[in-house]
Amino acid sequence: MAHKIFVTRKIPTQGTDILTDHGFEVTVSQKDGVLTKEELIEELKKGAYSAVLSLLTDHIDAEVLDAAGKDCKIFANYAVGYDNIDLVGARARNIMITNTPDVLTETVAEHTFALMLAIAHRVAEADRFARAGKYVGWAPMLLLGNDVSHKTFGIIGLGRIGARVAHHAMRGFDAKILYYDVKRNETFEKEYGAVFVERVEDILPRADFISIHVPLLPTTKHLMNEARFSLMKKTAYLVNTSRGPIVDEEALARALKSGVIRGAALDVFEKEPSINDDLKTLENVIITPHIASATEETRTKMAEVAATNIVEVLSGRVPPNIVALP
Ligand code: DGY
Repeated sequence: MAHKIFVTRKIPTQGTDILTDHGFEVTVSQKDGVLTKEELIEELKKGAYSAVLSLLTDHIDAEVLDAAGKDCKIFANYAVGYDNIDLVGARARNIMITNTPDVLTETVAEHTFALMLAIAHRVAEADRFARAGKYVGWAPMLLLGNDVSHKTFGIIGLGRIGARVAHHAMRGFDAKILYYDVKRNETFEKEYGAVFVERVEDILPRADFISIHVPLLPTTKHLMNEARFSLMKKTAYLVNTSRGPIVDEEALARALKSGVIRGAALDVFEKEPSINDDLKTLENVIITPHIASATEETRTKMAEVAATNIVEVLSGRVPPNIVALP
């Protein structure tokens, strides 16, 4: 009998095509939105699925894993992050978890720069200003921003994406790179002249742009908090394209309002999809709705990678992107 696969929301068809081409029976949720936990559990219980292609918006906890049942071999997450999944619970139930690394590195690094340039050059604020009919003529002091070139970048988390952001900063903008990571990377230091610091605190007073690229873990929740904002330069900008809860949003809003830091550019939020009301009213904030990987090219590749992970597991092979082994 054909393996049954459940896809929790519509994704680019190139992914589902890979699954059907392998003879699997694919069910894609017809809901135009995130399934509630109850809806997901109901679907999994009735489906007897061998695999689930899940999204970062699905909270895969013990109850959901139980609902998937004994036939389910893999949850293939359509994201590089997997903080939405109970890995310990998955291991205990012999369910493999995979993710979609690499294919989104370039795109997220590009988006990080889109945000960084936009906040430093006040792009969204200037756009609002011009559309509101406030532009009455060129002026020497109109909407002055800050240069990105030749500045000091503080990279918090030197994984694939953090390293790519550092690459662009150094090669494209002649920036100086400071980085913090749990692991030192001397090869990277040599290639980019980057300086490793042992504590986040050692970056904060020195960087003009701080870009966060760590995963969400109990140890990184509110990594950027009131005390740490107060250590940043008053002229510095914070950029976050990793996970929202890494930044204490209320403390950030206070820091931006009171001039503790100059600006922030955010793609992720503490309680998505809701966004802190204060942040939404501030001119010195750029907000994008968790779209750092959202290009046609990358979302297609993510669909293909997630599908391939499923094909490999159901064919008895080792998939390329395991994050939790049974
Ligand atoms: C991820 O893959 O974890 C991103 O947040 C989705 O774009």
